[in-house]
Amino acid sequence: MKKEKISSVAVIGTGYVGSSYAFALMNQGIVDELILIDVNKEKAIGEVMDLNHGKVFSPDSTNILFGEYKDCADVDIVVICAGANQKPGETRLDLVDKNLIIFKTIVENVMASGFNGIFLVATNPVDILTYATWHYSGLPKGRVIGSGTILDTARFRYLIGDYFKIAPKNVHAYIIGEHGDSELPVYSSADVGGIPILKMIERQEQYKKEDLDEIFINVRDAAYKIIEGKGATYYGIAMGLARITKAILNNENSVLTVSAHLDGQYSEKNVYMGVPAIINRSGIREIVELELNEEEQQKFQHSADVLKAILAPRFE
Ligand code: 2OP
Repeated sequence: MKKEKISSVAVIGTGYVGSSYAFALMNQGIVDELILIDVNKEKAIGEVMDLNHGKVFSPDSTNILFGEYKDCADVDIVVICAGANQKPGETRLDLVDKNLIIFKTIVENVMASGFNGIFLVATNPVDILTYATWHYSGLPKGRVIGSGTILDTARFRYLIGDYFKIAPKNVHAYIIGEHGDSELPVYSSADVGGIPILKMIERQEQYKKEDLDEIFINVRDAAYKIIEGKGATYYGIAMGLARITKAILNNENSVLTVSAHLDGQYSEKNVYMGVPAIINRSGIREIVELELNEEEQQKFQHSADVLKAILAPRFE
């Protein structure tokens, strides 16, 4: 039986990330209607068929459909996962020019459909491509969101939880900045079950700051290791995208680390970067401004400079 359409998402790009995201949405029953769009129509049609064959086993009946750009007119969220992805040895920033060309076409086509919802961008370099989506679409900045450091933050929480033997859900710690090599951990406000992480290190000698530093390096370099091993990363980011989608559609006001347009927060302007933000039905309701210590603020500024150096020649 067809379910009444209440919420609707279109995914552009049905490669590893797009199709894993569709799988995550379906398994969690997050959305009523899911439209898959790809330049390779056969690929999108194949994914639609494969997913629909699992519908009977899913918790809720998501209508999964093959679509085209014109079908974006009424959707609540357009999620962009299309583009070239990293080969072993490539950085996220190496992909910029290839993917900017692809994005211009995608965003113009989506806007030509009459779309007036929220863009969620996952393709790398995500902070640059989220900026590009905002620029090409002309939508208000709060309605263009990048996956930012949501995955890095999840990796960080998972590893810290493992280190202190505490469920990752009880770890509050953020990775902010570029989703890439210049990102940084915010130790100054990180806590485990309400106890500041830096106090845990100070009080209990089995815990060491060097171990935390190693955890951060493992987080920062995780994608390189995964790409070397299996060629691409997709389950983690897909679940992060599903989490953002749920926060939007359920009007949650949840704090998630996404790529958001800074307008003076953290002393930065006119750049999209990973920061904690309150997400609800309107998109990014507000950026959460953590109190960074001097070292963290300097690292954040360096990360902003890296991104701005990429943006400047391309958008000014
Ligand atoms: C990741 O961090 C490659 O950006 C992707 O898994």
